[in-house]
Amino acid sequence: MMSIIGASKVITCNENNDIINDGGIVFEDKCIIEVGVFNDLIQKYKIQGNFFDECCITPALINAHTHIEFSSSFPYNLGSFSQWLSSIIAHRQEEMTKKECMYKVINLMQQNGIGTIGAISSQGFDLQPLVQSSLRVVYFNEIIGSSEENQNFIYKNFLQRIEDSLKYQSHRFSIGIAIHSPYSVIPSLITQAITQAQNNNFPLSVHFLESAEEREWLENSCGFFKEFYKKFNLQVTQSFHNINGFLQYFDNFNGKILFVHATHAREHELYRMAKKDSALVSCPVSNRLLGGRMLDFKKVNHILPCILATDSLASHYSLSLLEEMKIALFSFNAPLLSLAQELFLSVTQKAGQALGLNIGMLNAGMLADIAVFHVPFIKQSCNEILSLILQAKQAQNLWIDGVPIPIERYNYE
Ligand code: BEZ
Ligand code: FE2
Repeated sequence: MMSIIGASKVITCNENNDIINDGGIVFEDKCIIEVGVFNDLIQKYKIQGNFFDECCITPALINAHTHIEFSSSFPYNLGSFSQWLSSIIAHRQEEMTKKECMYKVINLMQQNGIGTIGAISSQGFDLQPLVQSSLRVVYFNEIIGSSEENQNFIYKNFLQRIEDSLKYQSHRFSIGIAIHSPYSVIPSLITQAITQAQNNNFPLSVHFLESAEEREWLENSCGFFKEFYKKFNLQVTQSFHNINGFLQYFDNFNGKILFVHATHAREHELYRMAKKDSALVSCPVSNRLLGGRMLDFKKVNHILPCILATDSLASHYSLSLLEEMKIALFSFNAPLLSLAQELFLSVTQKAGQALGLNIGMLNAGMLADIAVFHVPFIKQSCNEILSLILQAKQAQNLWIDGVPIPIERYNYE
C-alpha cells in the first residue's frame, strides 16, 4: 500500500543535506518512492496524506554500536576503565541473561526514533529478543578469548553462534562479526574471525584503544592488564599484539570495518585505520563515565567518518541517540551549527553507510525507515537540526521497512 506523509520540515540527510519546508515522502512496501513538497506529492499521486504540523521528518536513527545483553542497569563501577572492566567480569554472567531488560531497551530505543542497531552479541542471549523485535539489526557475533588452551572450544562456540544467527538472516536482520579488543583476543582467533568475515562478506566491529590502560599494555605489556592477567589467566604475561601489528590484521580485509572508541589513538594510527570502508564509532558518554577522554570528533571526522553511538547500559544511563547528540553537542569543542549537522548525519547517513545498509537518507530508492519528531516552532527555525537536537524528547512516529511501529508514550522524568 502506498503512503504519503508530510511535515513542516523534512530533513533528508541526503548528499546535499536538503531540508524541505512543508515536505513530504511517498513510500510503498519497503521503499521510498519520492521525496518532495507535500502538496505536490498529494496532487501527483492522488491519495490522502498524513501531515505532521510542527514536526520534522528524518531518517530513522541508527545506533551503530550497542550491547543488548548488557541491558540490566547493574551499577558497574564507573570513573575508571580498569575498575569498570573488573566489575563487568565479576557480574557479566548473571546480568547477561536478563531478557525482560532487553525487551525494555529495544522498546525505549524505538520510542526515541531508532530504527536500526549494530548489536554486539557476546553469547547469543540477545538473539531471540532482537529477532522478535521490529528493529533492523546488524547482529555482530563477538569473539573474545585470551586462552590458547581453550581456543578450539571458543572458536567452535563462535561458529555455532554464527550458525544460530544465520537461521534468522533476512532483509531486516543481517550478520556481522565483532572482535572484542586487542587486549582480549589471541592472534589465532583474530585470524579465524577475520577469515569468517571475509568469506561470508560480513562487516567487522572492533573495540580499539578505548583506555590509557589498553595503550600501555599494547605498547609496553605493563600496567593494569599485567595485574589483571595475573588473576584472570596466569599464562598471559605480555600483550598478544602491538598497536601496529593489531592494525595489520585488517590490512587485507575487504569489507566494512567499524573501529569503536579509539580515544587513545594517535593521528598516524587514525590515518592507518582510515580505509575505503572503515568508520570510527564514538560513544562519548560511555568514554566519560569510564573516566576516559573523549574523541576530538570534528578533527577525527576529517580523517575517517566518525559515527556517534551509545554503547550499552553497562556504561550509560540511556540508549537514546537524542540524548547522546545533546551531550556530544555540549562536550565537543567545535563550532555549534556545523557540529550539530555532523552529529545528526553521523547517526543517519554515515551510520547507514558504515553498516552497509540502504538507509540513513531520505531519497527515492532507499528503505522506508523514517522518524517523526515534534519540535515546537520548527517552522520558524532556520537551524532545524540544532532545534531538533535541543527540543525533541522522543519520536512521535516511526516506520521501519515502511511498517508503522507503535510508539508507547512515556514520561521522560
Ligand atoms: C575474556 O573474557 O576472555 C576476557 C575479558 C576481558 C579481558 C580479557 C579477556
Ligand atoms: Fe562496546
